[in-house]
Amino acid sequence: MASKQPLGNSSRRTFLKHTTGLVGLTLAPMNQADYIAPSSSVVQGATDLTLRINGRVYPLRAEPRTTLLDALREYLHLTGTKKGCDHGQCGACTVHVNGERITSCLTLAIMQQGKDITTIEGLSKGDDSATARLHPVQEAFLKHDGFQCGYCTPGQIMSAVACIREGHATSDHQCREWMSGNICRCGAYANILAAIREVASAQ
Ligand code: FES
Ligand code: FES
Repeated sequence: MASKQPLGNSSRRTFLKHTTGLVGLTLAPMNQADYIAPSSSVVQGATDLTLRINGRVYPLRAEPRTTLLDALREYLHLTGTKKGCDHGQCGACTVHVNGERITSCLTLAIMQQGKDITTIEGLSKGDDSATARLHPVQEAFLKHDGFQCGYCTPGQIMSAVACIREGHATSDHQCREWMSGNICRCGAYANILAAIREVASAQ
């Protein structure tokens, strides 16, 4: 009978990098012309939208009721942004719109046209794994093991980047308060806090 191999830290990190969008490099955007939802052409009331995400312009055709989260994941295949509760309660879907963090499950894609949207895929600099540089908050999450399963991690990181920029990470208490909208079911809070506080203290 084959024995089970324990999943070591480095292999877990490698796995998470490639599955959570922590780096975002495995989610290379497709050509703009490719973005058409498979079923949108037969959906009554579908309309043409244009979203500016991570510095690129993405046309898509979707129903006006499509949330930004679904537009990102289901239409544009930017799956680094996660769907947890789909009700604004977990923070897994956090993205930035014009530099401010929002829960993308609670806003319609059609309302975000003409705005600058940043997702976890847009945080690192550089387009390929050879030259890319992680955002300091991504680096800190890796350093402090700020995740276990990694599902909440993209939302935690997007929220943390904004939290630091807002000046809401100047103490442990303040950081916990202003990150309270991001739930981690694995309970990695202590490590997440350490990662955020390190980056905030260095600024
Ligand atoms: Fe949006 Fe939970 S999926 S807050
Ligand atoms: Fe698993 Fe946060 S790392 S939910």
